[in-house]
Amino acid sequence: MPDPFKFSKPRSRYAVVGHPVSHSKSPSIHRAFAEQCTVTMEYEAIQLDLGGFAQGVRNLQAADFGGANVTLPFKEQARRIADRLSPRATIAGAVNTLKFADDGGIEGDNTDGAGLVVDLIQNIGISLAGTRLLVIGAGGAVRGILEPLLGAGVAGVTLANRTHEKAERLVQEFSSYGLVEACVLAKVGQFPFDLIINGTAASLEGELPALPSTVFAKTTLVYDLAYADQLTPFLSLAKSAGVDRIADGLGMLVEQAAESFAIWHGIRPDTARILADLGDHA
Ligand code: ATR
Repeated sequence: MPDPFKFSKPRSRYAVVGHPVSHSKSPSIHRAFAEQCTVTMEYEAIQLDLGGFAQGVRNLQAADFGGANVTLPFKEQARRIADRLSPRATIAGAVNTLKFADDGGIEGDNTDGAGLVVDLIQNIGISLAGTRLLVIGAGGAVRGILEPLLGAGVAGVTLANRTHEKAERLVQEFSSYGLVEACVLAKVGQFPFDLIINGTAASLEGELPALPSTVFAKTTLVYDLAYADQLTPFLSLAKSAGVDRIADGLGMLVEQAAESFAIWHGIRPDTARILADLGDHA
């Protein structure tokens, strides 16, 4: 049951803010959710200047928006602007969902990790329990997914990053949530993994992290947090190395959006229909 006080002042304007943001599929996903749930909502993509995040958020609040999704490169700034953080946003140190509360406060949450776990288990159909997992990257995107993956019972996470020290720092920060260790990127090919997740921004730049192709086994599931209309460079590499199962981050995008929608409106949309409409997932 939704708390009647929590949803006492329904607002109809929402947005995703980022830089760049014009490529985002979030507006079409949220509009489809709103139609499905018969919620009145406008949702737009708003590009904020790189130095203008805080002012941009204040402007949305002043214009009576109900909240916003936050994407690259503002997720850590979004944590700092929030007056109250959910436990998972506190652990992640990054925020992708802002809710403007009736008392003028800004609530920050992070639905990325939950979205990824739901996509892996429910949409792709793998079990995470006991999985040997390699995560590449050590930035904001990876911060958001580590604890939810460890909490889902993976056997352990090996973390590799172009700047190795950043991977070591994340290992220290997250080791209280499960078995996590750092490995130099060039050496990851020496170990077998069930699941490899690319959490670097390399795909967005049309580049590849420099990792040995021996890391890919035929049965490995290779997942790129990035999504694109064509195969990302990382997924192309995996495919040409003989991997059968690949997925981009479109499913995660839809699932984290559903979680944000539920935070704002108190209703959880059916994601299967949207995923089918978007097509070609996994
Ligand atoms: P995000 O919020 O997307 O994680 P970020 O915090 O800037 O953005 O982190 C970007 C991540 O992608 C980092 O792990 C970065 O590696 P470094 O820590 O060495 O900078 C990684 N990355 C970006 N471009 C890359 C490339 N061309 N090759 C490999 N890794 C790359």
